[in-house]
Amino acid sequence: MDPEQVRAHWRDWASKFGTAIGATTRTRTAKMLEIDALARRMSMFGLGDAPAHVLEVGCGNGLNCFGLAAQFPRMQLDGIDYTAEMIDAAREAAVASGFQDRSRFLIGNALELSAAAGLLAQYDVVFTDRCLINIESVELQMRAITSLAARVRRGGHLIMIENSTATYDRQNHCRTLLNLPARTPAAFNLFFDETRILPHLETLGLEVEIEDFISLHDLMLYVLVPAINGGAVDYDHPLVHAATQLTLAGSPELSRAFGAFGQGRMFVCRKP
Ligand SMILES: C[S@@+](CC[C@H](N)C(=O)[O-])C[C@H]1O[C@@H](n2cnc3c(N)ncnc32)[C@H](O)[C@@H]1O
Repeated sequence: MDPEQVRAHWRDWASKFGTAIGATTRTRTAKMLEIDALARRMSMFGLGDAPAHVLEVGCGNGLNCFGLAAQFPRMQLDGIDYTAEMIDAAREAAVASGFQDRSRFLIGNALELSAAAGLLAQYDVVFTDRCLINIESVELQMRAITSLAARVRRGGHLIMIENSTATYDRQNHCRTLLNLPARTPAAFNLFFDETRILPHLETLGLEVEIEDFISLHDLMLYVLVPAINGGAVDYDHPLVHAATQLTLAGSPELSRAFGAFGQGRMFVCRKP
């Protein structure tokens, strides 16, 4: 898919779903785990009751920002997204949820952050959630990461929840062991190639830790339930909900206890 088709896809979903979760994902349970993983990390960074400034790049209709605002009463959140319809929805949802005083939503492109008006020079945390996989080449993904890292203050963090071919391939291997066909990424996605991305993070001087917060959930959703369900992925299967509840209840230890089989991983990068 060329970049214009990718943008059209997100405009289309934003127009169809507005402030609803369907604008950015089909997997409600994954969204719960993503917000939980982000919030746990931010607590670990000591942001519990600190007046922290956080930026989400590719914020969609703002669900992560509102999830964090609800848990961190003094956090100020900026979200940028290149889809104007997503930003309109995020602004509407900010008012509806009462977070308009602690959140701002701006139009901007991860590849042209320096041109985005209204952003702070630096943030305590900059994060992405399934944004950079929409960028069409590894070179451009790395360029975006460089500009995101430049917006992080010293001692702050860049967090990227992005899909990775490394764990996706492992998940597909499990499917083939159970006689299920391998899945393929959506046409508008380029999953992280860690053989290129990880060395790039190193050249930026970042200290990197990877957390596989969604492994159990994705094994259930994409491997085990399809294995007993005629091959179908069932987003609302009770076992998928049970896997989500177990991960949420047991976090942080349990979230890491089920290997590295999720399509998403959380790349936590500290700027020393
Ligand atoms: C899968 S949605 C995720 C939205 C949000 N991060 C979440 O987790 O709910 C991907 C979002 O990234 C945005 N996006 C994709 N490429 C972008 C870019 N280069 N700059 C800014 N936003 C981008 C899309 O418009 C879309 O809203």
